[in-house]
Amino acid sequence: MKKGTTKALHTSEVGLTKPGPAVIPKIDVQASEVDVEKWKGDILVLGVFEGSLEKNKQGEFENAELRKLDEFVGGLLKEITSEEDFTGKPGQSSFARLAGYGFKRVGLVGLGKVEASESSTKPWKSLGESVATASKTSQAHSVAILLLTSSAQLSENTKVAAASAITSGLVLGSFEDTRFRSEYKSSALEKVELIGLGVGKELQDQISRTVYQSAGVILARQLVNSPANVLTPSVLADEAENIAAAHDDVLLAKILDKEECEALKMGAYLGVAAASTNPPKFIHLRYTPPSGDVKTKLAIVGKGLTFDSGGYNIKTGPGSMIEVMKFDMGGAAAVFGAAKAIATIKPPGVEVNFIVAACENMISGGGMRPGDILTASNGKTIEVNNTDAEGRLTLADALIYAGQLKVDKIVDLATLTGACIIALGTDIGGMFTPSDALAEELSAASKKAGEKLWRMPMEEGYWEMMKSNIADMVNTGARAGGSITAALFLKQFVDEKLPWAHLDIAGPVWKDKTGGTGFAVTTLVEWVSKNSSA
Ligand code: BES
Ligand code: MN
Ligand code: ZN
Repeated sequence: MKKGTTKALHTSEVGLTKPGPAVIPKIDVQASEVDVEKWKGDILVLGVFEGSLEKNKQGEFENAELRKLDEFVGGLLKEITSEEDFTGKPGQSSFARLAGYGFKRVGLVGLGKVEASESSTKPWKSLGESVATASKTSQAHSVAILLLTSSAQLSENTKVAAASAITSGLVLGSFEDTRFRSEYKSSALEKVELIGLGVGKELQDQISRTVYQSAGVILARQLVNSPANVLTPSVLADEAENIAAAHDDVLLAKILDKEECEALKMGAYLGVAAASTNPPKFIHLRYTPPSGDVKTKLAIVGKGLTFDSGGYNIKTGPGSMIEVMKFDMGGAAAVFGAAKAIATIKPPGVEVNFIVAACENMISGGGMRPGDILTASNGKTIEVNNTDAEGRLTLADALIYAGQLKVDKIVDLATLTGACIIALGTDIGGMFTPSDALAEELSAASKKAGEKLWRMPMEEGYWEMMKSNIADMVNTGARAGGSITAALFLKQFVDEKLPWAHLDIAGPVWKDKTGGTGFAVTTLVEWVSKNSSA
């Protein structure tokens, strides 16, 4: 394994764009027991459940703690709740300026019903996001978030999950990718105290893990947001080497160039890469725990198309989304985001191989044509009946490579099919796996992460559509069931005995309004943690 072999030499100079400095939120989140009447800072925020704002006949809050706080702020809470009809519904928030106190603003944020906040982390994450937004608007540096007595009834598990979700809402809500703007205003938030969720090592450790996970999510967002003239396969390889160099106690980077991939006979991957002047880079990072035995070996494979034009089957028309096809490395982004987080969290007992066959799907005289037959590194032949079904071709060789590492389980992530977006929309990823056990593991991890996966069928009968009259298979089936035939194609390149899952994340990696989401990073970190052992 060598380091420093890929410098940003191949950075395309189209448009002369160089990303500006990244502004990454650095927020110190502390669980605290401070008395709010003595607290000094910029904004005091109260998280309130629906129904906890009941008033008595005299118009005073029934809740003694709330009554006391309201007296302290001169009846301001009463005014807000009645004038703005604030009842604590999810999504409600109100912030007011006040003078003569240790803090400059007071805010109310609705958490919805108590029961809902026990079964889902969403209301807590939204609370963090609301606080992040309000803090940015008023350029607040320090904030206290207070949960009232009703929070005392929350179970210890809920409190830890709440602190974690609030933290991720705060950090991710404060992040804005400003690298490609010449003017911007960023958040000034530095310190947040969480009051009312308890204190202690367990809580504080979970908050730190969440901060590390969020840094991984932010990295994934930045990678997805980077346009293809900036983030070429070589630059993606450099990024991977930078992550490895920053965590060289646990990460090792190996980058294979085109010639090395040729030597490994990765014809499916290289067929896709052929048309681009930006050379392909096959990226492999390996996480080894800092000490102790490795009991489980995992591989996480990400689709890394830094741009997908469609090739000769070029993407045309408004529905083709060609203008956002920089996001076609969203799987790779999730892989590297997870690698960064895992390298900081350092779970014991588990080895993780992060694999990306990065390239561009372009058009040129030297590119693959519709009808060409490619030979993958396991010798299987593929008739390319559509050059736009390129992701599965790159994944074929990446999955074969992962299988050769003698891992116990493989998960791949890919912005693989528009069909999966049609099936599940943009909030839910599709999960395809023959293994019920792995499906269970990934569902549990995604639930904990607050990310949605839905298991899809691997309908073997549909393989009929993938038969070729000249080669072992074609790469494209019908439009109907398109995400299923894509998954069946990938299955051809994984040993049947090896538990494997494919996550089609074409929908949730991207939001038109805000760009890259960092989807799947948190799920992957949770999944690896579950496979960790002391
Ligand atoms: N990267 C696309 C999938 C995609 C399309 C993601 C739209 C997000 C939005 C993939 O490479 C692709 O082009 N898939 C084709 C497959 C087809 C040719 C069988 C698709 O989904 O249309
Ligand atoms: Mn494509
Ligand atoms: Zn693609």
